[in-house]
Amino acid sequence: MSHRDVIIACDFSSAAATLAFLDKFTDRKPFVKIGMELYYAEGPSIVREIKARGHKIFLDLKLHDIPNTVKKAMAVLSHLDVDMCNLHAAGTIDMMKAALEGLTRPDGTRPLLIAVTQLTSTSEERMRRELLIDAGINDTIVHYARNAREAGLDGVVCSPLEAGMVKEACGSGFVTVTPGVRFADGEVGDQVRVTTPARAKEIGTDYIVVGRPITQAADPVAAYERCMAEFAE
Ligand code: C5P
Repeated sequence: MSHRDVIIACDFSSAAATLAFLDKFTDRKPFVKIGMELYYAEGPSIVREIKARGHKIFLDLKLHDIPNTVKKAMAVLSHLDVDMCNLHAAGTIDMMKAALEGLTRPDGTRPLLIAVTQLTSTSEERMRRELLIDAGINDTIVHYARNAREAGLDGVVCSPLEAGMVKEACGSGFVTVTPGVRFADGEVGDQVRVTTPARAKEIGTDYIVVGRPITQAADPVAAYERCMAEFAE
């Protein structure tokens, strides 16, 4: 079953700016991503406020620490009632298993837990030279995705161009969440490996994360509806 949905990256630095942006959406309530900048600026209250307004939330804090610390941090996040959160697969299978345990509520429910494989800002050359990972970047991404699946996680964050190979390796039910999405007639900005919402749908990714093409648009609601029409409907 595909979950296909558009997640808006709310990369704002204050609650006021974020809520003013979300006020524009009077009809449909988009799935939103809260990242480190907003969470560290405003704390858990911004999550509660956005949740209370009826939005689904992807809390993008990319946890990476020893298993016990991540387990306890995830237990705290589970009380925030978000719909999706994430961690770094580089933290090992043990860390990912501990995270799942911490995130699972007493009634057995939990948010989706998604792993970051290699950040798209990490090139193969840097991976080899600085991290001493002597393998191709695609092999590394697939290997980390397999580790995440083995740990029981729901999926990975990856570029849309990697989603196909992750699905092939881990099965079609393994969720892919993909940033790097741009309209065919839009600006690319600092993203390098980009694709359109329509192409992301063809590739078969489950969620696209779209920031500036919506947040910086003259009409953000129209840009969001265009993404939904191209990708999710
Ligand atoms: O504005 P833009 O559409 O490029 O926003 C993409 C969002 O996805 C940002 O919040 C960015 O931090 C996030 N992201 C990304 N690439 C990754 C992981 C996360 O662009 N590999």
